[in-house]
Amino acid sequence: MQIVILPTADDVAEYGATLFIRQLHKNPHSVLGLATGSTPLALYRLLIIACQQKTVSFAKAKTFNLDEYLGLAADHPQSYRYFMQQHLFNAIDILPSNTAVPDGSAADPVAACKQYEQQIVDAGGIDLQLLGLGRNGHIGFNEPSSGLRSRTRIKTLTPATIADNARFFEQGEYQPHLSITMGIGTILDAGKVVLLATGTNKAKAVKAMIEGPLTAACPASALQLHQQAIVVLDEAAAAELTDIEFYRHIERENQALLKRLTRQ
Ligand code: F6R
Repeated sequence: MQIVILPTADDVAEYGATLFIRQLHKNPHSVLGLATGSTPLALYRLLIIACQQKTVSFAKAKTFNLDEYLGLAADHPQSYRYFMQQHLFNAIDILPSNTAVPDGSAADPVAACKQYEQQIVDAGGIDLQLLGLGRNGHIGFNEPSSGLRSRTRIKTLTPATIADNARFFEQGEYQPHLSITMGIGTILDAGKVVLLATGTNKAKAVKAMIEGPLTAACPASALQLHQQAIVVLDEAAAAELTDIEFYRHIERENQALLKRLTRQ
């Protein structure tokens, strides 16, 4: 795991956006894995600006979102498809047919999960996957106890996640308790994974993910198995890490090495 600790949440967004822009420069046909929630919003704003300034193009890219509420149609304002249209897709040059979000209103959701896995395979696999982190250590909607090799499937949300996400729903509005989510195995198959976490309320989960044991009790700890996982944190989210000075030291060494290599 590469652990990058930056002063503010804005720095985290900028670092994440740069990774996506570099990926698209390297390969305009990249397959990108995307997330919803509060954390990626600033990153998406930066990607929109970059696209409008023609610094980057999504015209040849494909995207797959991590998850969707089961029972919400694409045009429901709380659906993750709607979120992605509002916060990214409508403002960039991506082809609508190249964006995929699990179908929360599929007549046969079990078959839809299988098809989603197949769609990812048919696209050649995900090159760069963006992740947020739940306070309980979830990634996508893989809640604690999720199989570490799980694939896209229907998952029940924990009461903690339902409570955390209640802020997006009106009082009395129907809030689904089920989701379709890429599995942990699906996420681990991505070529590169970048997880962003900001704020004090993520500090415990960050510590469990990086310094805790590999365990289904903290699904994000599965990233310890990934060969190219980058965790980008602000100071608040990194605050509970025991070996924080060591992680800063490694990053300084990495940066120095990079400088030397680019000078040669
Ligand atoms: C959403 C997703 C979730 C969120 C996580 C953090 O697509 O995959 O795992 O990333 O719940 O949410 P925020 O960013 O709202 O704190």
